[in-house]
Amino acid sequence: MKRWMTLTIFTGALLMTTLAPAGETPQPGSTTKKSFGKTPDGQPVDLYVLTNKSGAEGSITNYGGAVVSLKVPDRSGKLADVVLGYDTADGYVNDKSYFGALVGRYGNRIGHAQFVLDGKTYTLAKNNGENSLHGGIKGFNKALWKAKTFSKKDCQSLELSYLSKDGEEGFPGNLKVIVTYTLTDANALRIEYSATTDKKTVVNLTSHSYFNLAGQGSGDILGHLLTIQADKFTPVDASLIPTGEFRDVGGTPFDFRKPTAIGARIDRDEEQLKLGNGYDHNFVVRRSADTGESLAARVVEPASGRVMEVWTTEPGVQFYTGNFLDGKTPGKGGVAYPRRNAFCLETQHYPDSPNQPKFPSVVLNPGERYNTITTYKFSVEK
Ligand code: BGC
Repeated sequence: MKRWMTLTIFTGALLMTTLAPAGETPQPGSTTKKSFGKTPDGQPVDLYVLTNKSGAEGSITNYGGAVVSLKVPDRSGKLADVVLGYDTADGYVNDKSYFGALVGRYGNRIGHAQFVLDGKTYTLAKNNGENSLHGGIKGFNKALWKAKTFSKKDCQSLELSYLSKDGEEGFPGNLKVIVTYTLTDANALRIEYSATTDKKTVVNLTSHSYFNLAGQGSGDILGHLLTIQADKFTPVDASLIPTGEFRDVGGTPFDFRKPTAIGARIDRDEEQLKLGNGYDHNFVVRRSADTGESLAARVVEPASGRVMEVWTTEPGVQFYTGNFLDGKTPGKGGVAYPRRNAFCLETQHYPDSPNQPKFPSVVLNPGERYNTITTYKFSVEK
């Protein structure tokens, strides 16, 4: 009894240092927990507001682990929310675009919704034509994650965990997943993914934020200047499955090795752009080191001066220009999100890797740990 009381008092003290009371304006260098609604079966959903010492703020819900808002300064210090999203959990329950979500067990497509491991064929749900997309019908984006918060001297963290059971959506093995979001005082949002399994399986986790550095709901992203550190991309077929080819970007609209407006070539009469309805392709990240994070992409929004760099340990980045957004589902504050009003830079292994012998492996064995890091660093250009 005494031990229980000591534990309760200790836990309470720890929580008080990390969680500011709900309803209060978040203090710099704090994390606030708020109610965000309920799941369809009535479980409470929370929103964690991480505020850094310079006033930038990231809000994340434990429903789908989605980044709900991300407020970063422009060159005059004015904050804008640079990600698309919804005001309540209901929006995420009904969402079909994966706004801000944690995507798993397999980010992007698996061709014909099946793959073979050790001679056994695993069949997944076809939720995208003939293919499986983003983990299936109930991917990690529709799961309620367990949450813990941590506060350190120069950052605020939210640790989310989820057990994806053996057979869930057709994938083998009980997969224990932990994703830690950290907002640093230097205006970076770091996402650390880790997973272990008790049976051989495939894993490819990513974050599906839709960015608009001018502010969500403020129009299209065609004027944003993009650099992607990639000499090659993986062309796709009509169902957006990679053909297996690694194609040089040189001389194609996929050459973003120098800063180029996203819209400069997007409507060109080019086979791959037509297939993707714009950009919806995996780029092979040029690694700057064998280990650790490499710069994958840099985006500048000229009017506000906001800059976002994407650093990752992953071998690929899916650049998607919101070609399937249709403006019909109201987002935060009731704003509409029409086609190409945001872009995604999803760091991950290449689509359809389980079926592509030339692509880096996505197999996870028992006793191994899946560990990847991606950091979105925000700054300004004068
Ligand atoms: C895919 C797109 C898809 C979008 C939303 C992206 O990762 O590449 O084809 O429409 O996610 O699901």
